[in-house]
Amino acid sequence: MAIKETQNKATPKEIEEYRGKVLSWYDKHGRELPWRYKNGEKPDPYHVWLSEIMCQQTTVQAVKPYYTKFLETWPTVHDLANADNDDVMAAWAGLGYYARARNLHKCAKTISNDMAGKFPNTANELKELPGIGDYTSAAIAAIAFDEPSTVMDGNIERIMARFFKIEDPLPKSKSIFKAHTSLFFDEFDQRTGDFAQALMDIGSAICTPKNPKCMLCPLNEGCIARNEGIQESLPVKIKKKNRPHKYGDVYWITNDKGEVLFHKRPEKGLLAGMTALPTTSWHVKEQKPQTPDFIEDYIPKNTCISVNHVFTHFDLTLKLKTISVNNNLKVTEEYFWTNTEGMENKLPTVFRKSFVQFMLL
Ligand code: ADE
Repeated sequence: MAIKETQNKATPKEIEEYRGKVLSWYDKHGRELPWRYKNGEKPDPYHVWLSEIMCQQTTVQAVKPYYTKFLETWPTVHDLANADNDDVMAAWAGLGYYARARNLHKCAKTISNDMAGKFPNTANELKELPGIGDYTSAAIAAIAFDEPSTVMDGNIERIMARFFKIEDPLPKSKSIFKAHTSLFFDEFDQRTGDFAQALMDIGSAICTPKNPKCMLCPLNEGCIARNEGIQESLPVKIKKKNRPHKYGDVYWITNDKGEVLFHKRPEKGLLAGMTALPTTSWHVKEQKPQTPDFIEDYIPKNTCISVNHVFTHFDLTLKLKTISVNNNLKVTEEYFWTNTEGMENKLPTVFRKSFVQFMLL
C-alpha cells in the first residue's frame, strides 16, 4: 500500500536532514553491544545474523550472554554447522522460541555446505534461508552489507507512527508503515545499518510506548505527533483476543539411584526437541489432562507449588508433583534417567523454573 494523498510525507530534504541527526545521535549515544561495530568497522555477517536471530522476540539484555557463549563455542559458521543439534538446542535453552534454534542450525549448514561459508548480501537472497523472514533479512542486509533495505521492527513502527502521525491501526496497516519507513531507507549509500540500529536504540530508550523522552530525541522537531501532543496515543493497535490459560502437572520422578527422569520432547510442536521434565498434557480448565502411561501405577505427591509461564499464545500453570519409583519403571525411549548436575541450563524456561523449585524441596 502506498502513502495516501491525505497522509503525511516529509520532503526528501527533510528526510536527509533527519537521517543526519539520527546518525550523529547514534555516534554519541548508540548502545555498546557485543555484536555492534562502530567507527566504520566492517561487521562480520555471521555475527550480525546470529545476533538478529537471537534478538527476534527476545530482549537485547537477555541475548547478550547467549550471543557471547555461542561465539565462544562456535567461532565460525562452519563450526556451528558441524555442531551436534542437541548441543545447539541445549545452548539455546532459556532463550525461548526454539524453532529459531532449529532453523539457525539448518541455516548454518546451508551457508557452510552450499555457500562456502559466505552469507548472501541482499535481503531477497537472505529471505530464502531457514529462519530468515522480512524483518531479519532486511536487518542483516542493512547491518552487514549496508544494503538500503527498509528495516522495520516494533520500535521502528512506533517511531514512524509518531513522526509521520500514522493513525492507521497495526498490524492491519503494516504496508502503510513500510511505505513511510522506506522514505528514510531508500537511496542510502552507506551507514544503512547504523541508521537502522540507531532507530532501534531510539525506540528502546527514548521513543518508548509510555512517557517518551521527546526532549532527547533527534527527530523531535519534525515529529508531528509530538508537535500535536498526541505521541502516547500512537501507534494505534487492534486489541488481541484474550489468550487462554492452560493447566497441567509436571513431575519430578526419582529412582533408587537418585537419578531424575527427563523427557526429550517430540521434534514437532511447542518446545520441539527440547529436554524437559515429564508432564501431563496441558489444557484449559474444562478439559482433563492426559498423564504419561508409565506413571499410571503411581500416586504422585502434591507439593502445593506451581509455576507459571507465559507462552506466545497461552499462559500456563503447572502443578509440581513428585514420584519415587524403583528402578524397574518402564519408560519409552524419549525418556531418560540422569543425575541433576548441569541439567538446569539445558532446560527451556518453564522447566528450568520447575527444576529450581523441585531442587529446593
Ligand atoms: N534488536 C534486534 N536487532 C538489534 C540490534 N542490532 N541492535 C539493537 N537491538 C536490536
